[in-house]
Amino acid sequence: MQHVLVTGGAGFIGSNFVRHLLGAREDVQVVTYDLLTYAGSLENLRDLPRPERHRFVKGDVCDRAAVDAVLADHAIDTIVHFAAESHVDRSIAAPGEFIRTNVTGTFTLLEAARAAWRGRDGVRFHHVSTDEVYGSLAPDDPPVVESAAYAPRSPYAASKAASDHLVRAYATTYGLEVTISNCSNNYGPYQFPEKLVPLMIVNGALGKPLPVYGDGKQVRDWLHVEDHCAAILAILERGRPGETYHVGGGNQPTNLEVVEAICQLLDVRYPDAPHAPHRSLVTHVTDRPGHDRRYDLDCTKLERELGWHRRHGLADGLAATVAWYAQSGAWLAAIRDSDDYRRWIALNYGAR
Ligand code: NAD
Ligand code: DAU
Repeated sequence: MQHVLVTGGAGFIGSNFVRHLLGAREDVQVVTYDLLTYAGSLENLRDLPRPERHRFVKGDVCDRAAVDAVLADHAIDTIVHFAAESHVDRSIAAPGEFIRTNVTGTFTLLEAARAAWRGRDGVRFHHVSTDEVYGSLAPDDPPVVESAAYAPRSPYAASKAASDHLVRAYATTYGLEVTISNCSNNYGPYQFPEKLVPLMIVNGALGKPLPVYGDGKQVRDWLHVEDHCAAILAILERGRPGETYHVGGGNQPTNLEVVEAICQLLDVRYPDAPHAPHRSLVTHVTDRPGHDRRYDLDCTKLERELGWHRRHGLADGLAATVAWYAQSGAWLAAIRDSDDYRRWIALNYGAR
């Protein structure tokens, strides 16, 4: 691994991964390839360690000529594929872009890698996927292992499942050296404030309603993004080609418990806010259609085979995340003041 292409590297997890990789390895060159959709920003790539080892190329993963060029121009030997449409609610409102980016984009990247790497050793295509491909679990179901059957239920999850199948097909049919990771809900710095954790932090700090879908008793596993990035690096360095690894946070709170924890952190930070205690802002709203009740991943394989262990518990991870958002006013304001963000908030919450 010397020349690494990170697709979607200007988004939430991708930018954290670029930062993590440059900090951890002094012997790699990193190219971020990103279309800079509403979810991506060069602001997420400020103050990188070893910036002289990083390049940014604006481009679409569906654009075969542009992908061919970036692979050739930078002698890429490793692809870490994050680029995707990633928000379930947007996939319900407008699924088309999810099929284009997540399915056609992954296909285009696989075709380009297959052509560029024909006959080459020492290459790797790592695909970043999600626990949502396995569908919804009942309360007593055991954690899901890597060999479990797929049962996606939202357009987002179905598009990610399709991309996973394509990646495995390229390994089987063409011998492409691939690895896949399926992870749980990430949280941490630079997450776009449309997802649960940053939305609740931002709305709570501003005294706006905290919109909890349905009864709020849905269960997610919450993974700090730095633990996820360390897991991906471990898979790149020590993972076996052709294998899939699960990455999770090892917790199972309900959404209401997560929101309550954020409210308590906001109470400590802003004790004199007119809307304190912040839990008074919690508002139950119409549920998400097809809302998955629970996810839970078994991460034993990653821990035993690659020696990965998470470093963040949910309580300390949320505290650090609330502190990060409190210190990132300019970053947040640029998003909150954008037309796209206003439109999305009105569309998703206006009629709930
Ligand atoms: P994100 O929405 O924050 O970022 C996505 C990035 O991809 C953005 O920078 C965007 O500009 C870029 N992008 C979108 N379409 C593109 C295109 N056509 N060409 C090039 N770039 C494009 O997403 P995220 O939360 O960082 O998720 C990254 C990956 O991890 C996704 O594949 C997602 O499915 C997966 N994942 C995310 C989570 C999570 O909790 N966020 C959990 C499991 C898996
Ligand atoms: O599980 C991994 C997945 O986690 C990733 O693959 C996705 O890219 C990522 O977006 C995330 O999907 P979720 O749908 O689980 O995340 P989200 O933050 O949108 O919602 C988390 C939970 O909170 C979910 O049960 C829905 C609920 N929710 C969400 C929002 C935005 C609310 O109750 N209110 C909200 O306003």
